[in-house]
Amino acid sequence: MLGSANMDLVVRQPRLPRPGETIFGHDFALVPGGKGLNQAVAAARQGGAVDFLGAVGRDAYGTELRALLVAEGIRVDGLDTVDGPTGTAHITVLDSGENSIVVVSGANAAVTVLDPGQRAVIAAADFLVLQCELPVSALVEGLAVARASGTFTVFTPAPVVPLPAAFLAGVDLVVANRLEAEELTGEADAARAAESLSARRGWAIVTLGDEGCVVARGGVALGLAPARPVRPVDTTGAGDTFVGALVARLAEGSRGAVAAAGAEVAPDAAVTGAAESGTGGARVGVSEEAMIDAIRWATVAASVSVTRAGATASMPTRAEVAAILA
Ligand code: RIB
Repeated sequence: MLGSANMDLVVRQPRLPRPGETIFGHDFALVPGGKGLNQAVAAARQGGAVDFLGAVGRDAYGTELRALLVAEGIRVDGLDTVDGPTGTAHITVLDSGENSIVVVSGANAAVTVLDPGQRAVIAAADFLVLQCELPVSALVEGLAVARASGTFTVFTPAPVVPLPAAFLAGVDLVVANRLEAEELTGEADAARAAESLSARRGWAIVTLGDEGCVVARGGVALGLAPARPVRPVDTTGAGDTFVGALVARLAEGSRGAVAAAGAEVAPDAAVTGAAESGTGGARVGVSEEAMIDAIRWATVAASVSVTRAGATASMPTRAEVAAILA
């Protein structure tokens, strides 16, 4: 995971104030967050073996975020501590469960280049997961290392930022929400947006909240996966939970696929996976069956997260998801 770590400062309130207006909120909470940290925690809770690459500040929030990652079993050798404040996210959650977020990058902005240790972690990993809360230079470098090493790349374009023209075409799987997908492709129709995002390489998933998600491969939409109906309490981090759970499940499936191939044709096991992925280089394979299974798993994980408050605080364990799917 190459991504951001923020402390979320969350206020629950009945509505958004008008400019110049003061209103009362119901309550306030400090919750570890950041799209990178959230996705890392979501993947770890689903049984994924996760490295976190990024930066926190030399302050109490940084100490707390690092401790949380360690407590979740996530390796933090690639997490730098830099001078200045840890990233923060200023989040309003309305009674409807909807949220709006303002991020102040802090230490995340210091991740402009990767060090040799961070590059080595990416090169050795099966999957690299990226979002847009780090400087674009780090994302570009991370993607280049992953592609050169056959690491399968998963990218969430959140928040949407200007990217080099070739960036998206180098990603194996794009997971975007409806707004992000439309901003990137100009397509308001989610299926067409997914087709456009996957046209040049690999896969795309466009998430649609309580309507589910559409998935496309190689420019062709494969269909709509329905959401699991729940009563929302707080949608913060639901998209991150989806991505983390999805990747953990894909990783679990790909290990099985490589092991199975290895039993028959050990020397070519990784090549078998690359051929199946259709991505022209990733070591691990992602079949249509594996993607559908992972989407089902991720949909349940995200549905659980919206029934509870907070980003990391709301994420389910593997056992919880398995119990629902049993
Ligand atoms: O996706 C939710 C996350 O966005 C929050 O945890 C916040 O930190 C922002 O990065």
